[in-house]
Amino acid sequence: MKKISALTLVFISLLQQVFAQTPEQDKVKLAPAPPMGWMTWNFFGFDFDENDVKQMTDVMVSSGMAAAGYQYIFIDDGWQGGRDNRNNMIPDPKKFPSGMKALADYVHGKGLKLGIYSDAAPLTCGGFTGSLHFEKQDAKTFASWDMDYLKYDYCGAPDDSSTAKKYYKTMAGALAASGRPITLGICEWGDRQPWFWAAGAGGSLWRISADIRDKWKRITGPGLGILDIIEINKNLHPHAGPGRWNDMDMLVIGLYGAKGPSSYLGGVGCTDVEYQTQMSMWCMMASPLIASNDLRKMNEATRNILTNKGLISINQDALGKQAVEKMRTEAISVFVKPLANGDFAVAVLNRSDSPQQFSLNLSSAGLAGEYTAVNLWSGEERKKAGKMRLTVAAHETLVYRLRP
Ligand code: GLA
Repeated sequence: MKKISALTLVFISLLQQVFAQTPEQDKVKLAPAPPMGWMTWNFFGFDFDENDVKQMTDVMVSSGMAAAGYQYIFIDDGWQGGRDNRNNMIPDPKKFPSGMKALADYVHGKGLKLGIYSDAAPLTCGGFTGSLHFEKQDAKTFASWDMDYLKYDYCGAPDDSSTAKKYYKTMAGALAASGRPITLGICEWGDRQPWFWAAGAGGSLWRISADIRDKWKRITGPGLGILDIIEINKNLHPHAGPGRWNDMDMLVIGLYGAKGPSSYLGGVGCTDVEYQTQMSMWCMMASPLIASNDLRKMNEATRNILTNKGLISINQDALGKQAVEKMRTEAISVFVKPLANGDFAVAVLNRSDSPQQFSLNLSSAGLAGEYTAVNLWSGEERKKAGKMRLTVAAHETLVYRLRP
């Protein structure tokens, strides 16, 4: 008997080893598809409280955003109230009188997840308490509040990339040891080419650029727009995949130049066509989809853009490929994204300021054969699409799902 039970034990332990997840697989589980949610920053800046967060949580559900796949409420900078006499981080008691655990319970009660924000320096970008040298303690605090995500910023931290890697690794390790799965979003604005090292440092996504502003593109001076970030991300497609995403920053869709940080640096607002392009390209490029408009007051156009089912399924596709630019003319870019079921998504982006007639020859975009093409904005279906004559408005993006 004794012999058999020893053998059984060996067998069980072998089985455990075979089925054990590697750390890499564990990390993929934290963000198998690009995270989707809503973030406080672009609209509120530092000026928000627990009631704002609760209202946004409610409207995420009532507006249909949650049903469309938006899962997270992300609290950005401005929630902090310093440290208590044991050095535990505390929220600003005026803004969050009920505390962060109660807020997380509220958000979880609605079927959503809650994210929080800190920085790899003594102070955050906004001058609030940061986490440097308190990583373990703060990760434990965030876990004790039942947080699901941490955006970890890099203001006030050293410029060199080896320090950045070290600081992010330290926080990732602290989160992994916190006793709760917490997804790590890296935010050092692409300054140290995080696409090469951020996944290895424990991040599931990383910002690739400076902050987006609510505008089509940079004309003079600083402040990036939608098109600028598409151009930056264009070459980064080899680095994206399940558990590792190029983060193109928040969606400015529906802000229309509203108050808040997205309106700084020339963020005058965009047209609905430009917002459609943002949705189209963020989905094609497998970026996290993080709305930042005032959901409580969004109009129908904004709601329809943010909840477009066909586009969201392209963004969330299990293959996790980022679209590649296959053709480029003076005005037009054609992007292709292969999908898990053998379909392809094709986007035709008009970068220019005037309407364009464009003849899309699918075989020139690397897609031989005939396809049924569904226009994901209009719903129009074309059978046997091989060559398509298209009219693309200025700054517009047409997206087709092609079925072989
Ligand atoms: C940086 C980040 C923004 C936001 C602010 C908060 O600028 O890039 O996304 O988090 O800090 O202060």
